[in-house]
Amino acid sequence: MHVLIINGSPRVKQFSNTDKILTKFTEGLSENGTTYEQFEISDKKQWEDIRRAYYANDNILIALPLYVECIPGLLMEFLETLSPKNDGTKIAYILQSGFAEGIQLRCGEAYLKILTKNLGCEYAGTLVKGDNFSIRFFEGNMRDKVTGPYTEMGREYAAKAGFESDKCRAFTGYEIFPAHMRLMLRIVFRTIGRVMFTRISRGWGCTKPLDHRPYQ
Ligand SMILES: Cc1cc2nc3c(=O)[nH]c(=O)nc-3n(C[C@H](O)[C@H](O)[C@H](O)COP(=O)(O)O)c2cc1C
Repeated sequence: MHVLIINGSPRVKQFSNTDKILTKFTEGLSENGTTYEQFEISDKKQWEDIRRAYYANDNILIALPLYVECIPGLLMEFLETLSPKNDGTKIAYILQSGFAEGIQLRCGEAYLKILTKNLGCEYAGTLVKGDNFSIRFFEGNMRDKVTGPYTEMGREYAAKAGFESDKCRAFTGYEIFPAHMRLMLRIVFRTIGRVMFTRISRGWGCTKPLDHRPYQ
């Protein structure tokens, strides 16, 4: 099997969490001879090649981050340039996000089913997973802890040509956090989280407090 992979993030490859996820995912995907080619939506110079590859390939995987509860605008702009295929092409998706609960990605997932139909293709499932904010901030083992599990999902995709298995559904984790976890997270975000985010923002050149309201 050969797979066309499209990273739908508007972030350049170097800073894209989706790209780090795909690095691990493709390790598992290619273990048993499955081949792939990967393109980046963030690089408009690639769009013509992506379009050509979309019409030439039967197995397509679009990996995308959730941006404002939805599909990123730049990816949408690209998708609107495609014509429906009606030739048995399968499209699967990796839908990943910052916030951790599966429930907040379900609206995006429902849209991806509609999108597949509009493109005249067969829906091959969506791998739904949140809790990926930290990928960009971490290096080495810490990053691998978040991205490593995607290698197994790569194997699963290669074996099933999609994400419709129970294993992939279970990969989402909590649909909604239980009450005690929500309470704990609230405390963590108001204490350690606040200190961490302040430190990160200073590293990026931010000079004002995180709750600064210049227009108030
Ligand atoms: C403008 C913007 C909007 C975002 N909106 C959401 C959101 O609605 N829900 C969420 O869980 N994460 C949201 N995120 C977090 C991203 O989905 C998350 O960090 C993802 O891993 C980014 O992947 P990328 O670096 O490949 O773009 C948003 C990030 C940005 C920059």
